[in-house]
This record gives sequence, structure tokens and C-alpha cells, in this order.
Amino acid sequence: MNAVDLIVAKREGDELSDEQINWLINGVTSGTIPAEQTAALLMAIVWRGLGPQELATWTAAMIDSGQRLDLSGLTRPTVDKHSTGGVGDKVSLVLCPLVAACGAAVPQLSGRGLGHTGGTLDKMEAIAGWRAELSHSQFLAQLQEVGAVIAAATADLAPADRVLYALRDVTGTVASIPLIASSIMSKKIAEGTSGLVLDVKFGSGAFLPDPAMGEELARTMVGLGQAHGVDTVALLTDMDQPLGQAAGNALEVAESVEALAGGGPADLMEVTLALAREMVALAGLDADPAEVLASGRAMDAWRAMVAAQGGNPSAPLPVASEVDQWTAPASGIIGRIDALAVGVAAWRLGAGRARKEDDVSAVAGVKLRRFHGDRVAAGDVIAELHTDDPYRLPAAHEALSSALTITDTSPEPRRLIANRIA
Ligand code: URA
Repeated sequence: MNAVDLIVAKREGDELSDEQINWLINGVTSGTIPAEQTAALLMAIVWRGLGPQELATWTAAMIDSGQRLDLSGLTRPTVDKHSTGGVGDKVSLVLCPLVAACGAAVPQLSGRGLGHTGGTLDKMEAIAGWRAELSHSQFLAQLQEVGAVIAAATADLAPADRVLYALRDVTGTVASIPLIASSIMSKKIAEGTSGLVLDVKFGSGAFLPDPAMGEELARTMVGLGQAHGVDTVALLTDMDQPLGQAAGNALEVAESVEALAGGGPADLMEVTLALAREMVALAGLDADPAEVLASGRAMDAWRAMVAAQGGNPSAPLPVASEVDQWTAPASGIIGRIDALAVGVAAWRLGAGRARKEDDVSAVAGVKLRRFHGDRVAAGDVIAELHTDDPYRLPAAHEALSSALTITDTSPEPRRLIANRIA
């Protein structure tokens, strides 16, 4: 077989056979197909898409490019969650210990963030001593004993995705439904979970802002999960405005701990509890997540999870040396705070990375003080901007310059959960 022939075939809109796709994914993983040919193939897929059979084979080949974990020895039912990423999306930090406290094992293998959306591992690494890397046996032991693990995916989990994602990131080929769906689902299926709840975001802070595209992505991923024996449900949730009050690593950990203590903001809790109920149902457990949260057992699971990975759950979180203010330019009612602008501001303050190898600041970020529907006067503080580097402040202010919509009338209440796809 010849890579050029297959690139040309896809460019012309032809369907690739199972044999051709398996050959391509093998070549991508082993490096026998060079980056420039893989990049050209990816761009052809962005334009031409993948048919249902092609997508099924492509995803199966990505799973088979590495190891599929076997979690069948656990006595707890396994269920995981994946979010397509957003601004202030710290849901996993609350959800993972909460669902573990309901009786499940939650094997959250996560990644680091790139661009304006934060990564779960970056957030957890704001906790002194906490480590993301676990051996296979540590991972299994913690899943059995604590029920909750948030850890870095190992190199042998869908290695084809590492190659493909790194190339997509630098070739403008991320925003493709079959490529996103196969990337996410190959990792989640290889992780070995029996149940999976997807939080597919739409709105300005999401990968795919258009709700119709979000819905198509959700349906595609649910179909892939079911085809591979993973009971999968998706909720389509609003990421047009930030979730909760904080965007930035330590700020989000602090907000998550408040949520576990019963003091979480209403929007964060609505999405978290809706996802928790779906996970508990998929795991076949008879537990009410709201009751488990109120009982303090989710907080106990959080503390055990952090401690098991070397962190001190009682240690104070790091704080920024500089805190500036973002103020309202006019009086009125807040109609909207743009999620993308807040994400870019947090990123410019140091919370995110521009290149994979960059470090992130644990302390940097945006802490909102006023919200959708609040009446404000010109000059009122809308948010605090946290950073250790004051030279970053002007760029963050610039990102926020048109983030705020101020109106005369009260806006419609936000509808956070737009759809459920199963
Ligand atoms: N997250 C992933 O893991 N893959 C994608 O393609 C997009 C988001």
C-alpha cells in the first residue's frame, strides 16, 4: 500500500477500506508514515469526513494501537466521565470523588490543557506534592480502595492518538467531528471503563461552539461507545459563559473544595449533580449524589484521593502575588460574560500553555465576583485577575475588553443542560 494513493483517495472523497485504515494507523503509530503525509491525510479527513464504517474501523485501530486496560478485577462498578473542555470546567474534581463516594470506581485518565481550556491534571498539580503519574498497580489499588483516581494517561493507551493529536494541534485539523470523536473515544474505551458519561460543551468557550455540531459530536461518540460495549450517555451543556466563579488552576481547586464542602456555585452544582446522577445510574448504584455530597462522604473521598497521590489535602493552596481588578464599564444588568474571553484572559495571566512543553502557573487566573443577571454600577468589580507576573495584566484586560454584555433588562435564565443523548 502507498500513503500517497490513500491521501489522494480521501481527498477525492472515496471511502477507505478496513485494510487501508488499519495500515494507515499502524504506520502512523510506528512512524513509518511520516508526519507530512499524516498531516495531509488529516486535512483530507477534515474536508471529506469519515463514513460510519470508516470511523468504526479508524477508532478500533486507534484502540488497538496500544493496550486496553482490564478493570474487571475490581469489585466496584466502573464509570467515567469526559468533558470536551471549557472555561472554569472543574467538574471532574468534584464529580470523581462524589461518584466514588456513591460506590463506583472512577478511572479518570486525563490530559493537560492547551490553549484557553484548562486541563484537569494542571489543576490538580496546584496541590503541593500531588503527582499525576501512577504505575498500573498503584492505579488499580487506588481504584479499588478509594474509588477515585485522576491520573495521567500512560504512553501505551491509544498511542496513535498521541501522534495524531500532536499533528492536529499544529496543522489546523482539530475541529473535525470524526477526528475528535475517535480521539476521545479511543482513549476512553482503552481505559477499560464499563460506563461513560460525556459532557459535550457548546457555546463560545467550547471546541465546537455551534450546539448542532456539539449534538452531532455527542451522537457520534455515544455510537462509538455503544459499539465497543461501553454504556455511554452524553449531556449537551452550555459553555457560553464560564462555569462557576473561577478559571485558573489553584483558583479552581479552591472552588472545587468549597463545592465538596457544600458551598459550590449553583451552575457548577447543577451540571455536576446531573452528570453524577447519570454516572450512578450507569453503574447500577442506588445512591443519591446530592445526599452523598451533603453527608461529607464526597469530601472524605477527595481527601483520600489527594493523599493517595502524594498531596496534602490540608495544605493551603498557593496564591498570586498580584491581584488586579476588572471593572464594569457601564451601569446595568449583566446579560452575558463571554466564556472564551475569560478563558483567554486566564491563559494570558499564565494559567494555560501555548505549546505542549510550556509550564503553567498554579496561581494565575480569573475569579468572577459578579454574574449573569446581576445589577452593577459603572466601576464595580466584575472579576479579580490573579498572576505572579504583572506584565501579563494588560493582555488579560485586552482579552476582557468586550467580554461583558450589559443590558437594561434581566436576561433569560441560563439553560445549562440543553439535551441528553443516549
Ligand atoms: N480532546 C481530545 O482528547 N481529542 C480531541 O480531538 C479533542 C479534544
